[in-house]
Amino acid sequence: IELSHIHRFQAGRGSHAPLLLLHGTGGDETDLLPLGEMVAPGAALLSPRGRVLENGMPRFFRRLAEGVFDEADVRLRAGELQAFVAEAREAYGLPAPVALGFSNGANIAAALMLLHPGTVSGAVLIRPMVPLREPPTADLAGVPVLVLSGAMDPIMPAGEGERLARQLETAGARVLHRTVPAGHGLTQMDAAAARDFLASLA
Ligand code: MLT
Repeated sequence: IELSHIHRFQAGRGSHAPLLLLHGTGGDETDLLPLGEMVAPGAALLSPRGRVLENGMPRFFRRLAEGVFDEADVRLRAGELQAFVAEAREAYGLPAPVALGFSNGANIAAALMLLHPGTVSGAVLIRPMVPLREPPTADLAGVPVLVLSGAMDPIMPAGEGERLARQLETAGARVLHRTVPAGHGLTQMDAAAARDFLASLA
């Protein structure tokens, strides 16, 4: 099915909520499918490709430098992603998905929640940063969120994961923030934590 974003869709079986998979910089729509299968066996998987290119590398929004975001573009792209999720839900007959985002994908997932509450019903944010310095007042009452930071993440300003966790909490989300002994990359510890968290929602 052709939708606004290049994407992959895998139908689900059973009762898991669908996952909205959001890749990191330089990834694509196939990257996180294996992780999705691992952390939520049987869940439908919806995996768009970011529409911004940085030196040929797909991303979900523009940045001015590493860690310095073009917040106008964050807002624009979060709106586009919200529209994509609505299209895909209609096309594939899905309930609201739970976002599973890594790095740049976690950042757009956080922006999506703060700018368009209700688009996702929960989120796992792996190595996120704060995508919006001054987020709008969002109502995320009771929305479950797992934030996974890396203790030795070299590209993360200290306290960034905690700041995002607080923003989401202020909006009413039920946030669990864990710091794993890892760098910026995905580890088995992230997969295990994501799996346990998603199982607790089912
Ligand atoms: C971002 O640009 O979203 C973050 O710096 C993480 C990254 O994608 O490298």
